Amino acid sequence: MKTKWIMIAVAAAALALAGAAGSAEAANPAACAGCHGANGEGKGPNPKIAGMSAGAFTSAVNAYKSGAKKHPAMNAIAKKLSAGDIAELAAFYAAK
Ligand code: HEC
Repeated sequence: MKTKWIMIAVAAAALALAGAAGSAEAANPAACAGCHGANGEGKGPNPKIAGMSAGAFTSAVNAYKSGAKKHPAMNAIAKKLSAGDIAELAAFYAAK
């Protein structure tokens, strides 16, 4: 039992480190989970983003970032993401 808690603590520390390594807090998938679900599975009116190809994901987010595609929440969120953040998130959701 004790080992289990140690493993959880180690996993939590690793997650914290991974978050700190990102260029912005916005690159954390937790920032997307409230609307798109913990694994991007979609939630209510918010579309599923899990399993999108990295290319489709990147062009969708870039379209919100530039304003070519309009949605108030996504425009505000995408503007805060760097190209590196978008690449990280694209890989994360493509692997889901
Ligand atoms: C406030 C809720 C909210 C949050 C937070 C949010 N999204 Fe969205 N997202 C939406 C909605 C609603 C849409 C659909 C908008 C539309 O109709 O164009 C969307 C659309 C998208 C799409 C396009 C999906 C498609 O099929 O074209 C992507 C990709 C996406 N979001 C990624 C993200 C990422 C990455 C994050 C976190 C950094 C995030 N979203 C955070 C609500 C949200």
